[in-house]
Amino acid sequence: MAFNKILLISAWLSVLLSVSLAASNTTTIYSLLQSRQDYTFTVQSMELTNLTSLYNNTLLNFTFLASNDTAWENSSANATGALSAAKQNVSGAIDFLGRLLVANTVNQTVRFSSLSSGTTSFVSLAELPLNFTKNSTGDSVEGDPVISPDVAAGNSVVQFLEFLLVPPAPPTTTSAPTSAPTSAPTSVAA
Ligand SMILES: *[C@@H]1O[C@H](CO)[C@@H](O)[C@H](O)[C@H]1NC(C)=O
Ligand SMILES: *[C@@H]1O[C@H](CO)[C@@H](O)[C@H](O)[C@H]1NC(C)=O
Ligand SMILES: *[C@@H]1O[C@H](CO)[C@@H](O)[C@H](O)[C@H]1NC(C)=O
Ligand SMILES: *[C@@H]1O[C@H](CO)[C@@H](O)[C@H](O)[C@H]1NC(C)=O
Ligand SMILES: *[C@@H]1O[C@H](CO)[C@@H](O)[C@H](O)[C@H]1NC(C)=O
Ligand SMILES: *[C@@H]1O[C@H](CO)[C@@H](O)[C@H](O)[C@H]1NC(C)=O
Ligand SMILES: *[C@@H]1O[C@H](CO)[C@@H](O)[C@H](O)[C@H]1NC(C)=O
Ligand SMILES: *[C@@H]1O[C@H](CO)[C@@H](O)[C@H](O)[C@H]1NC(C)=O
Ligand SMILES: *[C@@H]1O[C@H](CO)[C@@H](O)[C@H](O)[C@H]1NC(C)=O
Ligand SMILES: *[C@@H]1O[C@H](CO)[C@@H](O)[C@H](O)[C@H]1NC(C)=O
Ligand SMILES: *[C@@H]1O[C@H](CO)[C@@H](O)[C@H](O)[C@H]1NC(C)=O
Repeated sequence: MAFNKILLISAWLSVLLSVSLAASNTTTIYSLLQSRQDYTFTVQSMELTNLTSLYNNTLLNFTFLASNDTAWENSSANATGALSAAKQNVSGAIDFLGRLLVANTVNQTVRFSSLSSGTTSFVSLAELPLNFTKNSTGDSVEGDPVISPDVAAGNSVVQFLEFLLVPPAPPTTTSAPTSAPTSAPTSVAA
């Protein structure tokens, strides 16, 4: 499963980072969000899923889609409930949060300032498509408005979204999938 693979990469990175010299600019996705007051749910999720070393490193060039705590609270996917359950070590909740994070991460820097108008497709670390759209209405990802585009975090970029983007549940291996595994995440504004 993609999330377990990411955990392994994350563990490998910890080793790599410990032997790396300090980079000249140490701003990371993790440290940027930590420095802001209203991204505590995202930061806690990174910690609970042991993905901190993935998001707190200066070597990778990621794009991360961040939504504030209000957007988490407003999510019909009960993301804050999952966070509470994860704090009680409920493994399903931890898996949900891990999948949520990697579905909001692209393994390359995507800047709206460098995109042409229209829709450009990328693939998240959860191996789901993410459509970035730039038009006269503004910038959006999967139809989710970008409030603050192209914020640099070291080599990485953070796109601040209006709504929390929640991926579909992974297909089960024991029974026939009930939803297409390649379906895109939906913003749960409703
Ligand atoms: C995270 O790491 C801690 C300490 O190594 C471990 O106890 C915990 O089970 C890990 N959690 C996950 C989700 O891998
Ligand atoms: C994040 O990285 C910085 C330096 O790169 C380090 O000082 C800090 O302890 C790290 N934080 C965590 C939670 O790993
Ligand atoms: C990340 O970006 C930096 C600066 O643009 C570049 O020097 C580096 O090679 C990139 N690293 C990877 C792994 O692509
Ligand atoms: C949160 O949801 C409520 C009810 O759906 C809505 O009125 C409000 O505008 C939303 N707030 C944000 C910040 O999205
Ligand atoms: C949200 O999730 C929590 C923890 O799993 C649960 O206790 C709560 O009933 C859920 N709330 C809703 C409205 O589904
Ligand atoms: C969850 O697991 C961590 C690490 O294994 C442990 O330190 C913590 O006490 C556990 N929390 C609960 C509520 O069981
Ligand atoms: C990200 O892409 C680089 C190549 O650009 C690759 O070496 C690396 O394994 C990828 N990382 C993840 C977490 O997929
Ligand atoms: C711009 O793209 C968004 C997201 O796909 C869409 O909702 C909006 O209608 C588009 N605006 C125009 C003027 O085409
Ligand atoms: C480090 O990067 C951040 C954003 O990525 C930028 O705002 C800051 O000016 C940089 N600092 C230095 C010393 O280059
Ligand atoms: C959080 O983001 C919403 C839009 O999703 C915005 O309306 C709200 O003002 C933000 N809250 C804070 C505390 O910045
Ligand atoms: C993403 O954009 C491409 C090109 O416009 C389109 O073919 C595809 O259906 C879109 N995918 C989703 C999930 O919206």
